[in-house]
Amino acid sequence: MLLLHRAVVLRLQQACRLKSIPSRICIQACSTNDSFQPQRPSLTFSGDNSSTQGWRVMGTLLGLGAVLAYQDHRCRAAQESTHIYTKEEVSSHTSPETGIWVTLGSEVFDVTEFVDLHPGGPSKLMLAAGGPLEPFWALYAVHNQSHVRELLAQYKIGELNPEDKVAPTVETSDPYADDPVRHPALKVNSQRPFNAEPPPELLTENYITPNPIFFTRNHLPVPNLDPDTYRLHVVGAPGGQSLSLSLDDLHNFPRYEITVTLQCAGNRRSEMTQVKEVKGLEWRTGAISTARWAGARLCDVLAQAGHQLCETEAHVCFEGLDSDPTGTAYGASIPLARAMDPEAEVLLAYEMNGQPLPRDHGFPVRVVVPGVVGARHVKWLGRVSVQPEESYSHWQRRD
Ligand code: MTE
Repeated sequence: MLLLHRAVVLRLQQACRLKSIPSRICIQACSTNDSFQPQRPSLTFSGDNSSTQGWRVMGTLLGLGAVLAYQDHRCRAAQESTHIYTKEEVSSHTSPETGIWVTLGSEVFDVTEFVDLHPGGPSKLMLAAGGPLEPFWALYAVHNQSHVRELLAQYKIGELNPEDKVAPTVETSDPYADDPVRHPALKVNSQRPFNAEPPPELLTENYITPNPIFFTRNHLPVPNLDPDTYRLHVVGAPGGQSLSLSLDDLHNFPRYEITVTLQCAGNRRSEMTQVKEVKGLEWRTGAISTARWAGARLCDVLAQAGHQLCETEAHVCFEGLDSDPTGTAYGASIPLARAMDPEAEVLLAYEMNGQPLPRDHGFPVRVVVPGVVGARHVKWLGRVSVQPEESYSHWQRRD
């Protein structure tokens, strides 16, 4: 019986190999059929019950025949259910009408239903529509986690044609290769983009957090900006004039120095998650830090561009110089009333604890908005404008 069983396993493996189904599937299928292991009592042969034995062998053979047929069917079904798609077919699925398809490795996914649920916003996922996810996952490495892969697996519809080699459409070399070196004491929540917090023992040691261990919240690679060629563009008011300010120009505005604590909206999210699952990085207690900031007041710069407080609602929109492969920059806004209020002390900061801003914290210029959530303190500031509505940035409206 044992030999017979081994023969059946061999037959199954052969059947599967012939049909080029991965043997893993078939062996798994066999091992689930433990009920076809020979029953121990039937192993005790004796001359008296040979006819009973005959029936038993016959029954077993019939049973095994049924198993073979069943396995054969399963192998064929598994093969038939794997749809093979060409790269061209995938690339024609880029809209809700055609369906939105993406690939990861050799797998094809229909993510039409998921696009609106994408935590980074639908537009980010749409960047990959009709093509590979890899170039974007290289940028937003937060995706490389088992739960993200499990979620994606639910949308799998087939495999890419193996002969149809996928040529990467976007440069996949590491966009974070030029990020600065960080302090080893930082507790890292994500390497790419870099997100890290100081350990509580160090954070509580000083009221002012030393620059190297100040918590870092980046969404994109850190831009490497040349202070000599850096310009801040300030869009002028109607009748006013737009400004293109160098770092020296900013230093020529009256200098203000203030102590401000920054806190990320996600601080202590790891504790919130213990009560109810929350989306986002699992910050502990350290997504908060304090520094002495120095710079020009935003109200002074806006006034020079001809802006003043107006009756109607208005917002000051900030754009960073960090951007994704489509050129979309990090952005946020604050109400004009706060920006123009000298008491609110909103700064265009170029110094942090007596030093030029470190690269991770916005070198050469960032916004500091006392009393307002960290997300509005736009780093690597490139552009300031006054708009009737809040910034359209994903990070202002959806994150
Ligand atoms: N500004 C730009 N340009 N890009 C960013 O990713 N992150 C924001 C804000 N400003 C961000 C940005 C968020 S969410 C926070 S909490 C603070 O910067 C964090 O500032 P820090 O890294 O200096 O602590």
